[in-house]
Amino acid sequence: MKTSSRRMLQLRPALRIALIYAVFGGLWILFSDRLLALFVANAHLLTRLQTFKGWFYVLVTAGLVYYLVSQHLRRETQLEGSRRLSESRLQAVLDNAPAAIFIKDTRGHYLLANRLLREIIGSSEGSILSKTDQDLFPDEQARQYRAHDIEVLNSEKPMEFEEIMISPGGLRRYLATKFPLFDEERRVYALCGILTDITARHGAETQLKKSEERYRTLAANFPNGMILLFDHDLRYLLVDGTGLQELRMTKQEMEGRTLADLFPPAVREAVEPQYRAALAGEKRVAEVAFGDFLYEVHTLPVYDERGDVVAGMAMTQNISQKKQSEKERLLLENQLFQSQKMEAIGRLAGGVAHDFNNQLTGILGYTEMILQSLRPGDPLRSDIEEIHRAAERAAGLTRQLLTFSRKQIISLQVADLNEIANEAQRMLRRLIGEDIELVFVPAPDLAHVKVDRHQIEQMLVNLAVNARDAMPGGGKLMIETANVELDEKYCRQHPDAVPGRYAMLAVSDTGQGMDENTKARLFEPFFTTKEKGRGTGLGLSTTYGMVRQHQGTIGVYSEKGVGTSFKIYLPSCDEPLAPAPPAPARGEVTGKETILLVEDEQTVRDLAEKILARYGYRILVADGGGSALLQAQRNNEPIDLLLTDVVMPNINGKELYRQLRERRPNLKVLYMSGYTENVIVHSGILEADANFISKPFAIEALVQKVRQVLDH
Ligand SMILES: Nc1ncnc2c1ncn2[C@@H]1O[C@H](COP(=O)(O)OP(=O)(O)OP(=O)(O)O)[C@@H](O)[C@H]1O
Ligand SMILES: [Mg+2]
Repeated sequence: MKTSSRRMLQLRPALRIALIYAVFGGLWILFSDRLLALFVANAHLLTRLQTFKGWFYVLVTAGLVYYLVSQHLRRETQLEGSRRLSESRLQAVLDNAPAAIFIKDTRGHYLLANRLLREIIGSSEGSILSKTDQDLFPDEQARQYRAHDIEVLNSEKPMEFEEIMISPGGLRRYLATKFPLFDEERRVYALCGILTDITARHGAETQLKKSEERYRTLAANFPNGMILLFDHDLRYLLVDGTGLQELRMTKQEMEGRTLADLFPPAVREAVEPQYRAALAGEKRVAEVAFGDFLYEVHTLPVYDERGDVVAGMAMTQNISQKKQSEKERLLLENQLFQSQKMEAIGRLAGGVAHDFNNQLTGILGYTEMILQSLRPGDPLRSDIEEIHRAAERAAGLTRQLLTFSRKQIISLQVADLNEIANEAQRMLRRLIGEDIELVFVPAPDLAHVKVDRHQIEQMLVNLAVNARDAMPGGGKLMIETANVELDEKYCRQHPDAVPGRYAMLAVSDTGQGMDENTKARLFEPFFTTKEKGRGTGLGLSTTYGMVRQHQGTIGVYSEKGVGTSFKIYLPSCDEPLAPAPPAPARGEVTGKETILLVEDEQTVRDLAEKILARYGYRILVADGGGSALLQAQRNNEPIDLLLTDVVMPNINGKELYRQLRERRPNLKVLYMSGYTENVIVHSGILEADANFISKPFAIEALVQKVRQVLDH
């Protein structure tokens, strides 16, 4: 219904003309005769005129028809021309399109084929037009094309197919977009097809697929890391590996998305050039930080069978742990080196000091004896006193060196660090002066320690003096104590330390701090940054020696311009506090008892013999353990006191005393605390209640100690 009315409309101009013609023609025939009959009465004339009128009518209508038809024909020719023009334009466009394009009628005859299609098929236009696929292609393909065509014609919708075509260039793969063409009445009268060559893309895709499959198993089991395969758009094709959890992304989330979609700019900037290099055929390695971790990223190209790069591969490994252990190892090596260095320096210093010390005992002792025998006004007196003072200063130095090399005999007593520090406070206040505030923070319930009290005091003095020197403009000196447990981890980093419970004594200041170089050399003897005469560089080295001799460790924390904190850890013990040592006896120092003097160093032996003989004692002298035992056997008289060096060749002092006492149970002993090399081997520690006197000794000190031991 609708179509017929449309058709009526299209026909209207012609109909109108025909109707007008019919009306005018009819009117003419009707009225021209009547009009003629009005004016002409003659029947013959009338008939003749009517014949003329008929001729006239034919003439006019013939002219009219001629005019109309010729006009129509002219317009037709013009239309044909412009249609030709647009068709040739269309053909040019089609021929230059990068796709193969055709139009077929509904029965499959080619109405149009552009140049590319003609080239693919390998025939001229003439030989394609009005042919069907059946005529042009092998059966199987022709059937497939036709099946696709029919699908589109039936559905009347555009559709896409993948079609294969065997052309002179070999097998090629196309994406065929086919759609129906409609006429004015919306009837499908033809089918248009556009073919895009996807052979290359398809090839790359299959290669990629192959690579993906090849790497998928490998990736899934990649230990401690990930394998990522990415294409030329930096889109991840495959992501897997045991390290994936750390990224907090699943592989489903990552695959199919690009580097830019997934990672923050920092990672992208680090990784992108590397990825691109891989896609350009270059292998690279870099370290990339992401989140809390550090990754080592290896990138390399993935090739297809033809040797083209189809993708890039990144293999990542979390190296945070490795880096950390490497750092720890370096630290440990450094620490080990430090302690070995200290050990070596200690041995050297200890050896020199030991030999020096025996000589100094002689110099000091003999000068003292000379001084005792000189008259008060003797002109030699002041010179000898100078010698004595110089020898004392030298003895002070060797004492410190021996402390550092841990070759000093110490007497351990169970003590409370809080109590020692508290007692020392008054002395320390005097040392540090008014500008520095001293704060003491004792830990409640501090564990007991087994220490040589004098050494602890000495440590506090050394550290406090250093703190004072570091705070010339005043500041705060803090002494703290605490119970501390040193764990495996700490001890791994500090080879000197052993895991366990410790009492800590910390001395901190708000001074100038120190740089790395100073920190590294701090505990070396004679290392000082102070000007000549201000420091000898022995303070911390002796402190270090003392701490080590207590089986403790010392650590330093310092920041330039902020301050320094030394922490001393001493092993804690569960024993109760030792009773206070007896006060040294004053008064009479002479005696008549028999003393067995055992000393392998002749200078010291002669000196001690002379001094004691002068104070009235009877002396038996031996130069070692063997001769001492012989002496004791030969003498049936009582021996009251054994005065012996601690360690001598063959038999040491302790052992000698033990053997002698078997026969003489009342024998008393006074050890001369020689700073001998071997003492350390034998722990270097006498029982807390052992009597001992340090070398070099003053005459006064020796005779007093001897008297005290005999009377006790
Ligand atoms: N609390 C501290 N603050 C800043 N630097 C310090 C501190 N303690 C020690 N030092 C640095 O360590 C160096 C060595 O100290 P050490 O006590 O061994 O020797 P000294 O103080 O220089 O001399 P000595 O103690 O023999 O008089 C010092 O010269 C100083 O540079
Ligand atoms: Mg010092």
